[in-house]
Amino acid sequence: GPGADLVGKHVVITAGGTREPLDPVRFLGNRSSGKQGVALAQAALARGASVTLIAANLEVAAPTAVELRLVGTALELEAAVTDAAAGADAVIMAAAVADYRPVQVSAGKIKKDETGDTLLLELTRNPDILAGLARTKRTGQVLIGFAAETEPDPVRLLVLGREKMARKGCDFLVVNRVGWAEGFASDRNAITVLDHDGDIVCEVSGTKMSVAGRILDLIG
Ligand code: C5P
Repeated sequence: GPGADLVGKHVVITAGGTREPLDPVRFLGNRSSGKQGVALAQAALARGASVTLIAANLEVAAPTAVELRLVGTALELEAAVTDAAAGADAVIMAAAVADYRPVQVSAGKIKKDETGDTLLLELTRNPDILAGLARTKRTGQVLIGFAAETEPDPVRLLVLGREKMARKGCDFLVVNRVGWAEGFASDRNAITVLDHDGDIVCEVSGTKMSVAGRILDLIG
């Protein structure tokens, strides 16, 4: 096994996908299962870390040994991760965070007989949590972001990853391709890790557990 190289380290991991409510019964969501984030939490525990898992609507069970914080929306995730990051040696933003939320959340169920044949939803931008964490990061803390992209061309995928790194300013960015049939529900993943300068650190293709191991090597 990988040993206990993370003993004494506090790792904060966000996992799953946020849901932005429209009314008491509906939300805007995404297809993130939380599997990669939960694999990261399991692997970090196995290596001796203390782990805070900030869980947004997981489709898989969280390990029992984590400090679990359940969140629903992007704003709830922001509050939880900002609080937890203050004492963290590493923060891994594996969660799929909604870029937008509805401007208005209806107090009652939206009724089609009241809205008619078309319904326009007005959305407002959510804060970029990862970029915010990068701006306020304490020295020594390792901040890792994810970039899930549907771009099929590997060269253009890397360009998107480098542009994203420039916007986010984290220490490492895990670039992975997602689509109708890949990425989310799968037990496997294929990633390219970029460093702060956009240079490739490693490329891994395998189970989400083996991918987790290589990501945690970045903070060991
Ligand atoms: O901007 P984009 O969603 O492509 O970036 C993905 C990375 O940024 C992920 O690590 C995700 O957790 C994070 N993110 C964030 N706040 C947002 C949107 C994404 O921290 N509003």
